[in-house]
Amino acid sequence: MLNPFLLMAVFYLIVALVAAADAALTSFTLLPWFVGLPWLRVHLITLGVFTEAVFGVLPAFVAARQGVASPQTRWDIWLALNAGLIVLLAGVPSVNPALIITGGTLVFIAVLLLIFQLRTLGIGHNQGHGSLKFYATGLIYLLVGILVGTGLWVGWNEPLRLGVPKEVHIHANSWGFASLVFAGLLIDLLPALTGAALATRRTLTFIFWAMTLGALGLVLGPWLGGNLYATVPGLVLHIGATVWLLVVTVKALRRHGLFATAGAWHIVVSYIWILLPVLVAPLILLGVSGIPGADIEATAPQALIYGWMLQFLYAVAPYFAVRWLLRDERARLGGNWLSLATVNLGSGLIWASIFLVGLRGPLHAAGYVLLGVSLAAAVWETGAIALAALRRAEGGMVQAV
Ligand code: HEM
Repeated sequence: MLNPFLLMAVFYLIVALVAAADAALTSFTLLPWFVGLPWLRVHLITLGVFTEAVFGVLPAFVAARQGVASPQTRWDIWLALNAGLIVLLAGVPSVNPALIITGGTLVFIAVLLLIFQLRTLGIGHNQGHGSLKFYATGLIYLLVGILVGTGLWVGWNEPLRLGVPKEVHIHANSWGFASLVFAGLLIDLLPALTGAALATRRTLTFIFWAMTLGALGLVLGPWLGGNLYATVPGLVLHIGATVWLLVVTVKALRRHGLFATAGAWHIVVSYIWILLPVLVAPLILLGVSGIPGADIEATAPQALIYGWMLQFLYAVAPYFAVRWLLRDERARLGGNWLSLATVNLGSGLIWASIFLVGLRGPLHAAGYVLLGVSLAAAVWETGAIALAALRRAEGGMVQAV
């Protein structure tokens, strides 16, 4: 059986390519600007590619750790997630409260069901190096992110007493959900690639707590209207945990000679784009002159999503596709030198556009052209794997008839 979540992730990767091309054309003023476009562009990646992939692989990883076969597809979860996503893709850009609440609720239910499924799969499970707690905590942060995100444009800020709601949403999803799930994926992936654990159980437990508490501070800070007593310790803990994770990952990849491939570089370099905004944040908070705080807040999330989240996915999505669409255990990290160069240059140009005000339009446009090229390379690789798997499944069905 093909993994339908992963097929949807490949589908949204292709749609994300169209959205990046569109961003380049609007920046060159060859197409008119459409107000909901930045939301669509970001969420095609965060919900369309990343969340779909997470739903596709977490049950399989947890089952593999248990030493049991991957569970059957939960079509109820698939339906809730995908129906919610389609309703949101229509509802958010057109700011339609009924559609936003319906879509947000469906995605929320899908995440809850996934947490229960993982819990059931993990019961009695010798946690090994403990990726399950990274996944479960990441998904709980996602629930917070969805709640706040759904309320962003429909007036839930008052009842939830949200100080800076958009930041709460971004922080819960990026530093809570994505950071913890990526760490869990590295814990599960590295032994499959190298035959050795990523780090000792003690180290990973420290990283888990520092990341979880760091994300809590980073969510509470803007929730309490920019409270520095929550934000600053959160920032320190989160940066500390991320750098530590990066150090053990680099060591493990180097020990096994994996830096000969672009995939290992994609994983490591992607973290520049999450550490950069975290390092610039204190300068914004302190109001240092020459640091355009408002422009950074408006533009940095896009570089974060393309440079970090998408780039990380360039390495792991082809691995997931080979392992769970082609059912080949010898899967390797994906990505190539072209996608490595273009995704990082593109994200760099998006950052440069913040500071070089006079050149903002052309830099933005050139950045999106490069990001589009990197996406095309990823679509080529992952799409070919998905196509091969679909052809194989089709062939199997024809033979069975
Ligand atoms: C049900 C799910 C979600 C809903 C309803 C939602 C809703 C929203 C809304 C309304 C905005 C504000 C757009 C604006 O003010 O310009 C936003 C921004 C954002 N969201 Fe979400 N979101 C969801 C899931 C996610 C996930 C899973 C992630 C990341 C893993 C994410 C990351 C972001 C980012 C980075 C931004 C800032 C985009 C920018 O400023 O360019 N969201 N979201």
